[in-house]
Amino acid sequence: MRILFIGDIIGRPGREIVSAELPSLRRDLKLDFVVVNGENAAGGFGITRNIANEFFAIGVDVITTGNHWADQKEILSFIDDEDRILRPRNYPRGTPGKGAGLFESRSGMRVLVVNVMGRTFMDPLDDPFAAVEAELSACPLGEGADAVVVDMHAEATSEKMAMGHFCDGRASLVVGTHSHVPTADAQILPGGTGYQTDAGACCDYDSVIGMEKFEPMQRFTRKISSSRFSPATGPATLCGVFVETGAKGFASRIEPVRLGGRLKQSRPGA
Ligand SMILES: [Fe+2]
Ligand SMILES: [Fe+2]
Repeated sequence: MRILFIGDIIGRPGREIVSAELPSLRRDLKLDFVVVNGENAAGGFGITRNIANEFFAIGVDVITTGNHWADQKEILSFIDDEDRILRPRNYPRGTPGKGAGLFESRSGMRVLVVNVMGRTFMDPLDDPFAAVEAELSACPLGEGADAVVVDMHAEATSEKMAMGHFCDGRASLVVGTHSHVPTADAQILPGGTGYQTDAGACCDYDSVIGMEKFEPMQRFTRKISSSRFSPATGPATLCGVFVETGAKGFASRIEPVRLGGRLKQSRPGA
């Protein structure tokens, strides 16, 4: 299978670069399945029904999220009925929505997608490792699922890397989100799991992690907040990870994707 994971889509610039590039990526890479992290899609904070529908219309199969999943309160009215949008699995019992799902690809393959959130330098939640363990053992790669994708939404690179090894040999791809900066460590772990510590974001990189840079600089230098954060509005870079799976659903190829905007470009060959 050929799977594309796209990192945090930030506001309109992020949405526009994804709309512009995803159709040709789907065609050129013959993608079977597309996952995007949409937690920042609506003005940097959360996601709306209309934006989610726009993503599905251009070929997104599943939308993962993170700590910003419920910033747009309207999501609470539809997340229980929309299986294709996930929020982190390790929120307390009773939280609306779900953190994992088994989906069918265009080619008829079964893809388990799990979304969890780290706890280091983040709000305390249930154990993400236990949450992933429960999903992986309920639907093992090669038995219940033809491919397994884990979005580890976390601040600390160490926690993300530990999750990669925790899933090694049991997932097709473990990818980090939330840091909004792509890491240069795309690799296939010893047990066959594709891994990248952070997918990066889809945003204008003349910014502070996607936000217009003046206000974050103010807050760091003077400890005064003078306005709200808003997405930087220059040309965005689409950042993500392309993975191809082979025998038993393990990764046979992994490549970073960076298209448009200021970052050094990386377009996987067909
Ligand atoms: Fe984010
Ligand atoms: Fe986040």
